[in-house]
Amino acid sequence: MSIVITGVTGLLGSSLLNHAADFGYDAIQLTRDDIANMKSPNDLAIHLTSYNVKVLIHCAANTNVEFCEDNKVQCYKDNVALTEKLALVCKIMQIKFVFISSTGVYGKYQDTPYIDYDDVNPTTIHHKSKVIAESVVSKLVSDYLIIRTGWLFGGSWDMSKNFVANRIKEAYCSEGYIKSDASQVGNPTFVDDLSSNIFNLIEKKYSGMFNCVNTGRASRFDYVTEIIKLSGLNVSVLPVDGTSFNRKAKVSHNESAINLKLDYFGINMMPCWKKSLAQYIESIRSEYE
Ligand SMILES: NC(=O)c1ccc[n+]([C@@H]2O[C@H](COP(=O)([O-])OP(=O)(O)OC[C@H]3O[C@@H](n4cnc5c(N)ncnc54)[C@H](OP(=O)(O)O)[C@@H]3O)[C@@H](O)[C@H]2O)c1
Repeated sequence: MSIVITGVTGLLGSSLLNHAADFGYDAIQLTRDDIANMKSPNDLAIHLTSYNVKVLIHCAANTNVEFCEDNKVQCYKDNVALTEKLALVCKIMQIKFVFISSTGVYGKYQDTPYIDYDDVNPTTIHHKSKVIAESVVSKLVSDYLIIRTGWLFGGSWDMSKNFVANRIKEAYCSEGYIKSDASQVGNPTFVDDLSSNIFNLIEKKYSGMFNCVNTGRASRFDYVTEIIKLSGLNVSVLPVDGTSFNRKAKVSHNESAINLKLDYFGINMMPCWKKSLAQYIESIRSEYE
């Protein structure tokens, strides 16, 4: 059985691509050019009919939250219109659609972790686009999974969005200390854990919306402190207040969540973030030592 994946040059898409075969799936990449060149959903559906496709996992997104805040039209093209186009492809082909959303959609109305049934009240253009895209998916496609995740790490050392690698590089070039936001909390989440849980949900034929983050929450400061500690670098991490970064996008101070539904259905495969972070840093150690 084949699975189509978008966003394969990104953190999550590359992990799904690398691990699809472990779960018995043939992975077909749908590239940025494929999507741009085939304007209509019908053309894309025709392109994919030669494969035995049963699922499309949509990881491609404009993930630059700061850029989105200033460029609403481009953000909505990348995150809503593109999702709608692919949802229509799935509708035409009558296949499952997996859409990757964010725990940032919940907003900032509580300090405790959000559960899957909490209201959404996004505070940025990027997260608003995710909420609209979720709604489009749930209305257009009969068999869908919406996965709300957060603070992804993993991928190859040289990927520009590789948060862990970037902090290690920053520490290497520092004068003995780096700064990190102590006021924002979330769930560092390893893309390989997320990929496994997504494949499991597909295999077990689940549909609907699920929070899916690694277990345990952390401030950015806790997270970066753990990265530097596990890396073995002799660099201090200084806690600072988020306001000192002067961001345009008013990202919630609390993007943390718990996987209530995955737990309840007995399908929560997401380990503690510290355990997965240690595993990941071990896998990239040769890049910097
Ligand atoms: N990273 C996080 O912390 C985080 C947190 C919560 C949710 N998420 C969600 O998880 C998903 C995967 O995120 P990620 O971190 O893996 O993303 P990423 O590393 O930033 O990669 C984004 C991918 O999307 C592609 N892309 C962007 N705009 C596109 C467009 N208009 N047409 C076609 N392809 C396009 C990029 O292709 P190019 O290489 O060609 O640019 C790249 O392959 C996204 O939906 C994201 O919103 C991420």
